[in-house]
Amino acid sequence: MNKKLDQYIEQHSTPEDPVLEDLYRQTHIRFVNPNMVSGHLQGKFLEIISLMIRPEYILEIGTFTGYSAICLSKGLKPGGRLVTIELNDELAAFAHSFFCRAGAEEQITQLTGRAQEIIPGLDQMFDLVFIDGDKREYIEY
Ligand SMILES: C[S@@+](CC[C@H](N)C(=O)[O-])C[C@H]1O[C@@H](n2cnc3c(N)ncnc32)[C@H](O)[C@@H]1O
Repeated sequence: MNKKLDQYIEQHSTPEDPVLEDLYRQTHIRFVNPNMVSGHLQGKFLEIISLMIRPEYILEIGTFTGYSAICLSKGLKPGGRLVTIELNDELAAFAHSFFCRAGAEEQITQLTGRAQEIIPGLDQMFDLVFIDGDKREYIEY
C-alpha cells in the first residue's frame, strides 16, 4: 500500500488491542511465514464487518495463529459462536492460548484438519464465512 495512505489509516484507526499486538509479535518470532497473519488494519476491517452483520455463527477457514478469529469474534451476538478450521495441528495450542487471553475461548471452537473434509460434516448454517485458507483451494471450500 502507498506509505502515506498507510500512515493516514494507522493515525485514524483505533489503536491495536495489546493482546493482538502481542499475538502479532509472537507470530513473527515463532512461526515461519508470519506474513500470513492478518495484522492491525485487516483485523479492524474484519471486526467492523462482523460488528455490522452481528452474526450468531461465523465460520473461518484458516485459523493460523488466531488473529482474525479474535477480531471476527468481537462482532458475535451474545451467545454466538465462531468455528475456525486449521489444517496445521501445531498451531492449535498457540492460538488457543491467545483466545484465552482475549477472553474469547468460550466463543471460539477450533477444528483441526482439511476444511474440505470437515465442512460437509458441520450441521450448521453460518451468517458470516471468512475464507482465508489455501487460495488454490477456494473453489473447493
Ligand atoms: C493466510 S493463513 C490464515 C491467516 C489467519 N486467518 C489470520 O488472518 O491471521 C492460511 C491458513 O490456512 C491453513 N490452511 C491451508 N489449507 C487449509 C485447508 N485445506 N483446511 C484448513 N486450513 C488450511 C494454513 O495452514 C494457514 O495456517
